Amino acid sequence: DEVESMRYTLLAWYDAHKRQLPWREYALTCSDANSHAYAVWVSEIMLQQTRVATVIDYYKRWMMKWPDLKSLSQASEEEVNHMWSGLGYYSRGRRLLQGAIKVTKEFGGNMPTKAALLMKELPGVGRYTSSAISSIAFSEPVGVVDGNVTRVLCRMRAIGGNTTKKEVMSHLWSVANHIVHQERPGDFNQALMELGAMICLPKNPKCSSCPVKSNCKSLRQVEEQSKFFFNKK
Ligand code: ADE
Repeated sequence: DEVESMRYTLLAWYDAHKRQLPWREYALTCSDANSHAYAVWVSEIMLQQTRVATVIDYYKRWMMKWPDLKSLSQASEEEVNHMWSGLGYYSRGRRLLQGAIKVTKEFGGNMPTKAALLMKELPGVGRYTSSAISSIAFSEPVGVVDGNVTRVLCRMRAIGGNTTKKEVMSHLWSVANHIVHQERPGDFNQALMELGAMICLPKNPKCSSCPVKSNCKSLRQVEEQSKFFFNKK
């Protein structure tokens, strides 16, 4: 069906065109899903309120200093604040430290593997971050909705309405959960983010280069409109 072909096409595009970002590189060096989850957690927390270009160097320095949960759990708050300096929203770094201490002491160093539990147990981890961690590190088939994905899904499904409204966002989350690739949910979710960052731009989206343009309801509507105006029979 249409969703299945969209999943397939988007993943193929992602495999061929994804940016090499340090958290994606780091993932390849992780020996197990739990260390991968830590690496994803750090990157997604940094990316919450900060641009990718800024996060890159901070991420590399952080992972150099604290390559795993255990080493972070032994850090001091001063060290964490210092490492975070310039990133803003310092509580993010402190909550990473609190979370690392909790996982080390209470869960024997094992991160929860499901989004619902991650959100319940880890400070500073909400619906977006928990779903990102569980889909990317543990392949839980859950969708994610961040700013980029909101724009992509609204266009793809021609969803109007105000995205500051709870009902609209709740609908977007159910769309994201419905369309997510069941075997490669983490790659699929990152592919949607990547599409929003590289192609489906806020202004002047590059629709002609879009791998899933044939699945885009907004583009279809725009094309129908221009037929009506320029091509009237
Ligand atoms: N923004 C938030 N999470 C991201 C990710 N995993 N890759 C690229 N951009 C992101």
